[in-house]
Amino acid sequence: MYPLDINRIACIGAGFVGGPLGAVIASKCSSVQVTVVDKDPARIHAWNSESLPLHELQLAEIISDIREHAEKSTECVKSRLIFSTDIQTAVQKAQLIFLCIDTPTRTSGPGSGFAPDLGNLKRAIEAIARTATDDKILVAKSTVPSGTSQVIRMLFEQHCRPDVKCEVLSNPEFLSEGTAIHDLLYPNRVVIGSQQTVSGKDAARKLAGVYQAWVPPSRIIFTDSLSAELGKLAANAMLAQRVSNINTLGTICEATGARIESVSQICGLDPRIGPHMLKASLGWGGGCFQKDILSLVNATRKLGLDQIASYWESVVWMNEHHKLNFQKRLVSCMGGSIKGRSITVLGFAFKKGTSDTKNSPAISLIRGLLACQAQVIIYDPMVPAKQIITDLHLTPGELERTTISHSPYSACSGANAVVVATDWDNFLCELSRNDEAQPLNWEHILKVMQEPKFIFDGRNILDCDFIRKLGGRYVRVGSPSEWDQLPVASL
Ligand code: UDX
Repeated sequence: MYPLDINRIACIGAGFVGGPLGAVIASKCSSVQVTVVDKDPARIHAWNSESLPLHELQLAEIISDIREHAEKSTECVKSRLIFSTDIQTAVQKAQLIFLCIDTPTRTSGPGSGFAPDLGNLKRAIEAIARTATDDKILVAKSTVPSGTSQVIRMLFEQHCRPDVKCEVLSNPEFLSEGTAIHDLLYPNRVVIGSQQTVSGKDAARKLAGVYQAWVPPSRIIFTDSLSAELGKLAANAMLAQRVSNINTLGTICEATGARIESVSQICGLDPRIGPHMLKASLGWGGGCFQKDILSLVNATRKLGLDQIASYWESVVWMNEHHKLNFQKRLVSCMGGSIKGRSITVLGFAFKKGTSDTKNSPAISLIRGLLACQAQVIIYDPMVPAKQIITDLHLTPGELERTTISHSPYSACSGANAVVVATDWDNFLCELSRNDEAQPLNWEHILKVMQEPKFIFDGRNILDCDFIRKLGGRYVRVGSPSEWDQLPVASL
């Protein structure tokens, strides 16, 4: 058992990590007050409204439970969970500060295209250091290169008052978008990296005291900061590599007639390989995989280990190649040209359960379809039209050929082809429906489509026989189709 010595926490950054993390801590630790701060007033306003800035299962319920409880409470505490732009007050009050600041890949300067941009993180630490009037525990949640905790400590010491001290912990977040609350509530591990000094280990135990309110102690791993930081990058790089591995095998299956599901099952039942991240798709996306692999490549190259850097970089290239391959296959199945053809893309988020579109494979797919002069209609149940337009960076000519639809049925009306780009449950066929989701009426979709009625399943979620019975020309990832121009190899 670790003591719960902490009762005032701040989360700096109200994004995908800070918001859900703050909400879960506030819901699980009744003696702790959590303030989540962000410099963006619009984002804070959204957190304080009924329409939260991000979609995550159970998030709205957790927050409204905390607020309801606060309303009924006779305590003078307004709420155990506050969203605010007032970083100064939050920092001054907090004993422990989670740094949940985004670290996107740098687009200029040294390490451009690879290294994460730590600018926002550094500015936040300087602001925290200048504001702090007593000792603080800073907890780095953002995914950062190995060695960043040390940089944070030095930066804090440069800018803080002489009588103020800090301990920096590395506590990387492993949550996946779409299952953020579940992952936070039931983490398979909580990694706490600290300096291996008495005060470092003491700070680590204080953080463990917070998690202990809902995480079994056996899942809390104590280590040094360098290992915690590298461990997070390594886990993401290995996961992304697995999806790329299975996607290359899917392409082999398309050409040979072997079944990708069987190959996944054969590998997945081997306990040394395991069942996760073995679903072939049109490519992986999201905010973490690419960024973290590139950061690992950057750090490895700086160590002079060029071959190892190139090895990991090839996982990113392979994903780019795979996304392009999916698009080329679509064009080739449709007779070699899609000029003037109407193609509907169902799904724009990088995976189901989230409205996040970062590096979504749908983006490069749609850009490729437009480059081939197709008309593109896009539907996603969660992603706002404005976001889709921002992500696509369209020329005026491309914009004219792009429509964002609010209904899957009007999106597919008149389409020559429909591409399933995101694995949303409600895109499933009635025959294989998940009980909680309202499935799409594919019968209606096939009726309102125009010949040749291609369905390209980039997520392998549809029922092949059902779509074929309805008159659709069904093409899925990892299986050959009669419309592929490549002949099935005779081995
Ligand atoms: C990932 C890591 O899983 C998480 O631990 C880390 O903290 C952040 O990065 P996330 O980006 O939310 O999480 O998504 P994840 O569920 O891992 O999926 C990443 C991409 O791979 C998605 O585009 C997904 O659709 C794709 N994917 C995943 C596949 O194509 N096949 C699979 O079998 C699994």
